[in-house]
Amino acid sequence: MKKELQNNPIGVFDSGVGGLTVVKELAKILPNENIIYFGDTARVPYGTKSKDAVIRFSNEIVGFLMDRKVKLILVACNTASAMALNEISKKVDVKTVGVIESGVFAAISASKRKKIGVIGTEATIKSGAYEKNIKRFDKNIKVINHACPLFVPLAEEGWINNQASKIIAVEYLKSIKNSGADTVILGCTHYPLLKKVIYEVLGRKIKLIDSASEVAKKVKNILEEENLINPSNKKGRKEFFVSDAPQKFKKLGEMFLNEKIVTVTKVNIEGKYV
Ligand code: DGL
Repeated sequence: MKKELQNNPIGVFDSGVGGLTVVKELAKILPNENIIYFGDTARVPYGTKSKDAVIRFSNEIVGFLMDRKVKLILVACNTASAMALNEISKKVDVKTVGVIESGVFAAISASKRKKIGVIGTEATIKSGAYEKNIKRFDKNIKVINHACPLFVPLAEEGWINNQASKIIAVEYLKSIKNSGADTVILGCTHYPLLKKVIYEVLGRKIKLIDSASEVAKKVKNILEEENLINPSNKKGRKEFFVSDAPQKFKKLGEMFLNEKIVTVTKVNIEGKYV
């Protein structure tokens, strides 16, 4: 049974294109794995939606991925990880992994001053998921949260290091800078693209925790533990599905993934798999 599963793909999903930052890290560390990616481009952003809506959307995507016989589901979206991971993990018999815990773990190990900044979408920050997880490990750590909603459109526009992004970053990061935090969790798929400007504002000494690379390591560990690593020595196949605008996804996706995307397939999952 396990042997059959080893060749099956890893399912990754996000509200849109941002989760490709996670796919990029996953492919680096697990180059022979096949990956099926679903970007919910018809309903992005999740960061401004209610918990009920994010759970419903996530369940539909998980149904779609399970139909494609994925061996593990990686929730690349921070908002969906914060709001829907518990619900979806109850519904499926494969491992489900979100981005929150891995980021928290890395931040706790990195912070010497025990002061951690967390930035994310409004929904992620409002959920308190990062802060709760940090306090679960160590309640003496001071957490400074700040929602940075404009970072998402800036990254999608490719404005990752210009005057506009700098002005916005200075404003958003003020409280974290003044707090003396030595570590900041980039709690959103899009933020790794803005690393340069964040460093400029917070200074080179700040430790930026990129959940994408942390969670990729976690997936590798789980596949090893479960004996689910694909034994093939061929480069893994990546398949991309979206709920809208495949051409736009392809164009933006190449920037996020830093490689050519050949095909993107549009599928309608709304109201299905419920
Ligand atoms: N993928 C989302 C996240 O990581 C950002 C975009 C959105 O709001 O949907 O939180």
